[in-house]
Parts: sequence; structure tokens; C-alpha cells
Amino acid sequence: MLIAKELSKAYGDRVLFHDVDLFIRKRERIALIGENGRGKTTLFRMILDRVKPDTGYLVLGKNVTLGYYDQEQSDLSDEKTVLDEVWDDFPELSTREARTYLGSYLFRGDEVFKTISNLSGGEKCRINLLKLMLRRSNFLLLDEPTNHLDIPSREALEDSLLDYDGTMFVISHDRYFLNKVADQIYELTEGGIVKYLGNYSYYVEKKDNPERFAGIPIEERPSKTRIVEEKKRKREKEKEEKDRKLRVKDLESKIESLEDRKSALADDLCKEEVYSDPMKTHSISQELKDLEITLQSLYEEWEESLEDN
Ligand SMILES: Nc1ncnc2c1ncn2[C@@H]1O[C@H](COP(=O)(O)OP(=O)(O)O)[C@@H](O)[C@H]1O
Ligand SMILES: [Mg+2]
Repeated sequence: MLIAKELSKAYGDRVLFHDVDLFIRKRERIALIGENGRGKTTLFRMILDRVKPDTGYLVLGKNVTLGYYDQEQSDLSDEKTVLDEVWDDFPELSTREARTYLGSYLFRGDEVFKTISNLSGGEKCRINLLKLMLRRSNFLLLDEPTNHLDIPSREALEDSLLDYDGTMFVISHDRYFLNKVADQIYELTEGGIVKYLGNYSYYVEKKDNPERFAGIPIEERPSKTRIVEEKKRKREKEKEEKDRKLRVKDLESKIESLEDRKSALADDLCKEEVYSDPMKTHSISQELKDLEITLQSLYEEWEESLEDN
């Protein structure tokens, strides 16, 4: 969906970040975290081509359609009703569909006839989020979407993001929210992105064991050679990690097809034409036995590949 290499950005003397690399695949659900002012919003704006990086480049996949949300931008019309606000953008929706969608964003009954000017900040956020989801972009960039949302609204958003099957990159500090909707954490630091392949709880746990992670400690001023070495190490680690993931994927697809074969054979054994024929039964049982042995060793290999992590 997205490849970025060695992005950097500074405003005057203030360096936001450098050496930011991204490789985002279809359906990944990634949280972007980092201290305030580090440049997370700026990085999103680079992806949207609204800010130019000082160095590096960024490419989006061929069929990517971006959907962007940040609480500041809103194109709602004060005089419209909630229902019309949605309908004018999505006239193909039936009344029932429009009301169902609005219902899932907590606009129930007469609430759909409220005018935009009478809505609270949180209610406006909900409509903007609903409209964003209805656009069906395949790559969502969400910049702190739970700000201004009360708990029920946050849960409504969580639900709709859990149903969403596109790619998601979301900036948030909300750990409960992140634990639900994201399965990888990218921390933006001055020296690049530090990846944590787990949810927010995993990140917190690993954060206490920093030696286990590649990435340049911010408190140190690395020398030029250190930087080069760190980068090399980081690249090697990334390559290893990529290879490992490929291995896991490959094993999973092998296992899946063998499991399919296994259940087909097991079904066959129950067919009359088979169980009434000792030769057929024997040969199928033999194949099943062999399959079982192969599967056993594939599962072991698969577990080992997972543990290398
Ligand atoms: N157009 C701009 N001109 C100058 N400074 C900017 C501009 N946009 C952002 N900044 C500064 O860059 C820093 C990072 O901003 P931002 O990307 O919003 O950080 P984050 O989203 O991580 O909190 C902030 O200090 C902000 O003031
Ligand atoms: Mg921001």
C-alpha cells in the first residue's frame, strides 16, 4: 500500500525526524505513536502529499484510495439535518440504510433530524467518521480519531473499524482504543520508526526491555559511524524479519492445503464406495498417515519460525 524511504523533515532548526522508512501492506492495522510535536501529523500530511519531505521519497500502491480523518477538518453544513448531511453525499442509500448507518454511529430516532448547528463537537466528529467510512477508501489515515468522543461513541468507532477490512494507519494515545483496533505499533522517534509487532500492551511491555529492539536511543548522540552501523543493523534486522514472515506465510499456506487434503480424505473414508473397498480404504489410510507425519513436521517448523520473533 505504501513504501517510504529515508524521509526527513525539519522546520527551521527544529528537526522532526529523519530516516523514516515505511512498508505498509494490505490490511495492516498500524498505530502511530510518539511524543507530541514529533511530527506524526506531518508524516500523515506527507502521505497525503500536502507536505513535501526534505529528503527521501514516498510511493503509494497503484490502487490505493486514501481516506483521511482529523478532528479539525470538517465539511459539514450548519443548516443541514444529520440525515441530509449523509444523504447528500451518498444519495444511493435507501432511507433504511441511511438510518441504519446513522444508528450505528448513535444517531437514533429523531436525532437524525437535528440540524448540524445544534450538534456537539463529539456528534460532529461522529458524522465525519461515518461519512469517511461510507466512502469506502481502502487505506485509512486517522489522526487522533477518539479525541472529543465519549465512551459510547468511541465504542461505535471501534466497532466500525473492527468491521473495516482495508488498511489502517492511526495516530492515537488512547491505549484502550489502540489495543482493540491496532495490532502493530510504530513509534515515531527523531531517528526513525521503531516497530513493535503487537498491540499497545505489548509495546508497553517491550518498552521496558529496550535492548531487545533495534532503533537509535534518543538520549545518545551517535557518531557518524555509529549511525551507519545502526542503520546497517536495522536493515539487516528488517531483512531477517521480512524473511521470517515470508517463511511463516509459506508454511501456513502449505499447512492449509495439506489440512484441506486431509479433511477431503477423511470425508472419502466415510463414503460407501470407499469403506466397502478394502484396497481403497487402505490406500487412503496410508496417504492420511503420511500426511499426518508431514503436517507434524510443518507445524513444528511453523512454531519455530514464530518463536524466532
Ligand atoms: N507548517 C509548519 N510550519 C512550521 N512548523 C510546523 C508546521 N507544521 C508543523 N510544525 C511544527 O512541527 C512540529 C510537529 O508537528 P506535528 O506534525 O503536528 O506533530 P505531532 O502530530 O506529532 O504532535 C510541531 O512543533 C509543529 O509546531
Ligand atoms: Mg498531531
